[in-house]
Amino acid sequence: MEPALLHSSDPVSYTARIVAAKRAIEQLHSAPLFQDPYAAALAGDEVDALLSRWRKVAQAQAVPLEQVITKRTRYIAVRTKFMDDLLNSTLAEYNQVVILGAGLDTRSYRLAWSPSTIVYEVDCPEVLQYKAQVLQDVPPACIYRPVSGDLAAPDAKWATAILDAGYQTTVPTIWLVEGVVMYLQKQEVHLLLQTLSHLSVPGSVLGMDGVKVGSVLAGQRARKADRGRVVRHWQFGHDDPKQLLAGYGWGAEVFEPQDVEAGYGRYPKSLPIGTETADQDDGRGVWLVNAVKV
Ligand SMILES: C[S@@+](CC[C@H](N)C(=O)[O-])C[C@H]1O[C@@H](n2cnc3c(N)ncnc32)[C@H](O)[C@@H]1O
Repeated sequence: MEPALLHSSDPVSYTARIVAAKRAIEQLHSAPLFQDPYAAALAGDEVDALLSRWRKVAQAQAVPLEQVITKRTRYIAVRTKFMDDLLNSTLAEYNQVVILGAGLDTRSYRLAWSPSTIVYEVDCPEVLQYKAQVLQDVPPACIYRPVSGDLAAPDAKWATAILDAGYQTTVPTIWLVEGVVMYLQKQEVHLLLQTLSHLSVPGSVLGMDGVKVGSVLAGQRARKADRGRVVRHWQFGHDDPKQLLAGYGWGAEVFEPQDVEAGYGRYPKSLPIGTETADQDDGRGVWLVNAVKV
């Protein structure tokens, strides 16, 4: 029986399942950018739902299904690879990792952690319970500490919760905030950055992504038109993440996905960024950040 879960009654939590489905679909690529053997189980029937939707799009546009799949999965594929690379290049030196809004991210189970690394994952209880249930027979590859918390709460109790779970304020930390800040309001993002920065000693590392302001506006238009299961929930966008993070003491390198290892071949000129109805000149865009606390 499928575990009770993440139904569309909580559409923001459900985005975690859509991301897992895209990671599962990436595994069907002839050269996947990463290996995630658990994504399909976590995504469940969302994989078939997406593929059947995209088949209809391909038919309606008279283009190959592969092209639709590439366009709809490439950001998640490149983002996952970017964050995997960030972790793989740093994990030998760090023993403490916090993944905020971890969703159905399976890195705690699939990366080559040192056995003494502690990984804290913060998300709402339903998401963490669902993941624990689906992966109940899979041993984590680290010391795994799931922590329920609301990242939007004005009292930032999630921070107290990770401290209670053992988080060490004197130890350099790797933070991942992947696919999260766009779902929060501006003041919530600033409080989140303030809180995690306060908990980070110099040398800590932050992997984060976000969308530009134009993408949030496009999401609002999608909501009005009753479209866009993911983008309609976007609330926060920023056009200068380097400056945003500098304000909290982080030195950031910022990338667009098509520039990360030149998009790993997923952003060819023949498949420009944009949608069927608009090109990219309306201020839309996404960014990926690799930052170090100074
Ligand atoms: C798009 S998913 C991304 C999940 C994961 N980081 C990944 O890339 O696969 C967004 C996640 O953020 C979580 N999230 C959004 N708002 C949250 C909040 N206020 N408190 C805790 N988690 C939140 C959702 O539950 C969901 O798991």
